Amino acid sequence: MPPNGYRLTRFDRCDSTNEEARRQGDAGAAAGLWIVSDEQTKGRGRRGRGWQSPPGNLYSSLLLRPDRPTAEAAQLSFVAALAVRDLATHYLRSDSQVLCKWPNDVLLEGRKYSGILLESVAGPGGKPAWVVLGIGINVVFKPAELADAVATLADYCNPPPEVGEVFTVLSQRFEMWLQRWLEEGFAPVREAWLSSAHRLGEAIEARLPSETLTGRFAGLDESGSLLLETKAGVRHVIQAADVFPAFGEAD
Ligand code: BTN
Repeated sequence: MPPNGYRLTRFDRCDSTNEEARRQGDAGAAAGLWIVSDEQTKGRGRRGRGWQSPPGNLYSSLLLRPDRPTAEAAQLSFVAALAVRDLATHYLRSDSQVLCKWPNDVLLEGRKYSGILLESVAGPGGKPAWVVLGIGINVVFKPAELADAVATLADYCNPPPEVGEVFTVLSQRFEMWLQRWLEEGFAPVREAWLSSAHRLGEAIEARLPSETLTGRFAGLDESGSLLLETKAGVRHVIQAADVFPAFGEAD
C-alpha cells in the first residue's frame, strides 16, 4: 500500500501504467494516484523503446500535478531515482554497490535494474497540467537478450521480495524524497543523487541526437542537466543524451 494521502488503482493487466495514468490525468483525476499492474501489454521505455512487462516485476506510475514550471517538474525524475536507489539499498547487503546513472537509471553492481519514464502535458502558465512518473523495477524478470547488462532484486535476495512489498517500500521512499523536493527544492535531491553518481569525475561519451561529446562528467547543474568538461576546458550543459564510458579521454 502507498503512504497516507495517496490512492492506488491495481490492474491484473493493462496496456501501460503510464498510459492509464495519462488517461486519468486527462480525465481530471486528482494528484497522488498510483497505478500498478501485474503485467503490461504495451510497456514503454525511454526514447520510444518498449519495456518488456511479464508478471513478476513491478510496473507502477504516479500521477502528479506539481505547481512548478515544466523544466523544474522534470526534476521529479531525480526524486524517483533516489526512491529507486533507496529501494535497492533496503534489500541488498550494505556492501553492495548501488549507483545512480544519469539521467535516471539505477545500477546494481553496474547493471540496470529499473526504468523511470517521466511524461507530462503542458498546462497554463508554463506549468504541466499533469506529470506521470512511471517506474519499473526488475524483481525477478530480465529480458534474456540483456541478461548481462540487467539485474533483478532476485539476483541478490533469496527468496525474492513480494512485488506488493516492493511497491510499498518504493512509494514510501518516493514520498520522503518528494516532500524534501517540495519543501527544500532541488538542492538536497541533487546532493543525494551526486553522492551515489555513477562515473562522476570520469571520462564519458554523451551521445546526443545530433553529435557525440567526450569529456569528464563534472556534475549536475541546478536543474539536473549533465555537465561535461572537454579536454580543452569547454563546459557543455547536456539536457538529454545516452551516456557511455570513454576510456582514456578525461584528464
Ligand atoms: C527506460 O527506458 O529505462 C524507462 C522504462 C520505464 C518502464 C516503466 S514500467 C511502468 C511504467 N509504464 C510504462 O509503460 N513504462 C513505465
